[in-house]
Amino acid sequence: PLVPTGELIARARSADDAVAAFNVITLEHAEAIARGAERVGRPAILQISENAVKFHGGELSAVAAASAAVARASTAPLGLHLDHVVSPDLLRCAHTEGFSSVMFDASKLSYGDNVKATAEAVRWGHGRGIWVEAELGRVGGKDGEPPLDAHTPGVRTDPAEAAAYIADTGVDALAVAVGSAHAMTRRTATLDHTLITALRDAVPVPLVLHGSSGVPDDELRAAIAAGMTKINIGTALNAAFTGAVRAYLADHPDTVDPRKYLAPAREAMTGTVAHFLTVISP
Ligand code: G3H
Ligand code: ZN
Repeated sequence: PLVPTGELIARARSADDAVAAFNVITLEHAEAIARGAERVGRPAILQISENAVKFHGGELSAVAAASAAVARASTAPLGLHLDHVVSPDLLRCAHTEGFSSVMFDASKLSYGDNVKATAEAVRWGHGRGIWVEAELGRVGGKDGEPPLDAHTPGVRTDPAEAAAYIADTGVDALAVAVGSAHAMTRRTATLDHTLITALRDAVPVPLVLHGSSGVPDDELRAAIAAGMTKINIGTALNAAFTGAVRAYLADHPDTVDPRKYLAPAREAMTGTVAHFLTVISP
């Protein structure tokens, strides 16, 4: 069933558990997330990023309605989340199509401008029962931008600033920069677990790890033990999808029916989802 993201996060937090959120690009991604969650018997979050909406011609409704329908039909508890929203116009679609939550991303702005824009987004969201996540510090590596050095302490989230940010914005969850970076295709990130614990102790809201595709299994487990509650995974699904398509077409170069290669691609993503859900299980 479709379950509010805030409810899944609150349940996980009170059990010292975590929830994985996987990025949806195609219908097969949504189906794979639901099947993987069912296979392992765990909840998960389907998230659609602003970049994915742009890929679908700027049209949120079709990909959102398909994802919501997949979630409603599933036996696993699944949330629907709008991810990395920069555009105020898209933000204002966050209470449609079954979304119960949004990540408003003003992380490129200065501290003051980030606070101002995010506080406004929170006022809008809370007026409509929407759970709001925001980012402080720079995880980096998002579409088109040169990858930030994930290990540069200068871009990491400062605990005292994070505490002030929560007080000034009223966000429900905080995405923090602790050593991961977006779009890593190898799992080589080293996280700052001391910083994660300091952030957990400094802020009253759940912490979110972005760029989790590049984080090794044991680092993920340690991050959750140190205080991470929402684990965002995108690139790992795309690597599984594309790897399966590439392998199928190499063996069957005359294929024209997309179902022939989308079926193994979906199955590969299902396996990846099940793997991550197993890794983050207590
Ligand atoms: O918000 C989405 C995530 O941070 C995904 O990052 O594609 O590097 O796993 P990733
Ligand atoms: Zn992210």
